[in-house]
Amino acid sequence: MTNAPGWRPEISKLQKEVFSVSNLPYSAKLDQNESAIELDSHVKEFILEKLLELDWRRYPQADFYREAKLALADYLKISPDELMITTGGDQVIQGCFIISKPRVLIFEPTYPMYRLFALHNRKKVRLEILNEVFKINPGIFNKRFDLVNIVSPNNPTGNTQSKKVVETALEKSGIVLLDEAYYEFSNWTMKSYIKRFKNLFIARTFSKTLSMAGLRMGYCISNKENIKILEKVMFSPYNVNILTLTICKYINKFTGHINKVKNLIIQERSALENSLKKMQVKFLRSTCNFIAFKGDDKLYKYLAENGVRVRNISGLPGMKGYLRVTIGKKKENKVFITILSGFLNK
Ligand SMILES: Cc1ncc(COP(=O)(O)O)c(C=O)c1O
Repeated sequence: MTNAPGWRPEISKLQKEVFSVSNLPYSAKLDQNESAIELDSHVKEFILEKLLELDWRRYPQADFYREAKLALADYLKISPDELMITTGGDQVIQGCFIISKPRVLIFEPTYPMYRLFALHNRKKVRLEILNEVFKINPGIFNKRFDLVNIVSPNNPTGNTQSKKVVETALEKSGIVLLDEAYYEFSNWTMKSYIKRFKNLFIARTFSKTLSMAGLRMGYCISNKENIKILEKVMFSPYNVNILTLTICKYINKFTGHINKVKNLIIQERSALENSLKKMQVKFLRSTCNFIAFKGDDKLYKYLAENGVRVRNISGLPGMKGYLRVTIGKKKENKVFITILSGFLNK
């Protein structure tokens, strides 16, 4: 396909998609790091009832946004002024790319949206490959960047970074965006550092332990001056819808669910790691709801044709020969292991 005149040439490179998802029928969908457990239908009904009481003609109003922030901030044990509600964790990333000057640092391999937002925002990007154990070499921060993106724990490698290294980034760089999308599975967070470092922005999501990937909800934690600016830039509260605000307002209804997902994933993650060990399949120890493991295109195809969707991450820098499986329910994980062992014993 040739692009019409007026198109940015680098956009045509996107024809080779940033990532693609299989459309074959499946019995185990383990390809997008979603939550294994659906929400209880009573909680969903409660939220829908609250939504029915609202006036859908109206844009989200500032006082409702404030109420939603109060409840979510209370749950997070921060001030509502340190919180912005967004359309997915992705919108926090987008916001940081919008407000920052051009020189951007991205560590690879990581979540591909970083490169996409860099492209959207015409950034001058330095892609730095993590070392052999996927850690950051702090020497990189001797060079000054306007925006440093650190994903910890990281997708798709599953490891966390040292807090000392993130501190170095905070001391030596412009904005530091710390992506904590998977923090609940790892108990790794630097939330308290927003008091010490004025340049720290934290991105979080409702797509993992909260099982709401389909609703596209997330939030940013930072100091109150940053939040004020980011909310202005993203035109809050019009960047989110009234369903999102309703869920945030009643966040306490979901705490049982969050713990259930966390516990199940941690338990299933260790069972899956044991099975992979037994089968002598190499994998990366993970603190998240997924595991990267050694596997080639043939295995990927075999799994897909046998109803198991995993992600082929072989094209990401530093991940050649790796696939990534999301931790599912016990039953789905069993299907995955059975099909995988069928392939290995062929
Ligand atoms: C590291 C990382 N950050 C952010 C996100 C996106 O979160 P959301 O679904 O809230 O946009 C993901 C999604 O998988 C992710 O892996």
